[in-house]
Amino acid sequence: MDAVRQEPIVIACDHAGVELKEILAADLRAAGFAVFDLGTNGPDSVDYPDFGNKLAEAIQRGDAKRGVLICGTGIGISIAANRHSHIRAAVVHNTTVARLARLHNDANVIAFGARIVGSEVARDCLKVFLETEFEGGRHERRIDKLTVS
Ligand code: RB5
Repeated sequence: MDAVRQEPIVIACDHAGVELKEILAADLRAAGFAVFDLGTNGPDSVDYPDFGNKLAEAIQRGDAKRGVLICGTGIGISIAANRHSHIRAAVVHNTTVARLARLHNDANVIAFGARIVGSEVARDCLKVFLETEFEGGRHERRIDKLTVS
């Protein structure tokens, strides 16, 4: 994955995702991204909504446009992030889903279940996610309808 410039990207996880976060953050840095690691950083049990919320707030502030979330299944932390209207977080298990999450859903956050996907699969998914552009067209209207007041 090639970042043309030092694009900022935010990454966060709960205790289940620390190891995978380190692996993905290293890939992102190697690809030239400026990685903002929002934690958690150790094995102590934490609550995934705190980290989903932190990441959503960082994107809201403009610290980065895109983000990566990890918990045990990817579900809890993505639900937390998706409660923020500017977040479209997709739980991804394979590269097809990673590509379609960008092409059709313009997902701005990719979420992984560290207890569900292997690290090599996650690494490939992240690469595809970051390299795929939103298709627009008919999907634009559908994305607009995701925002409810
Ligand atoms: C933590 O044990 C686990 O519940 C959490 O990582 C996640 O899988 C929740 O959706």
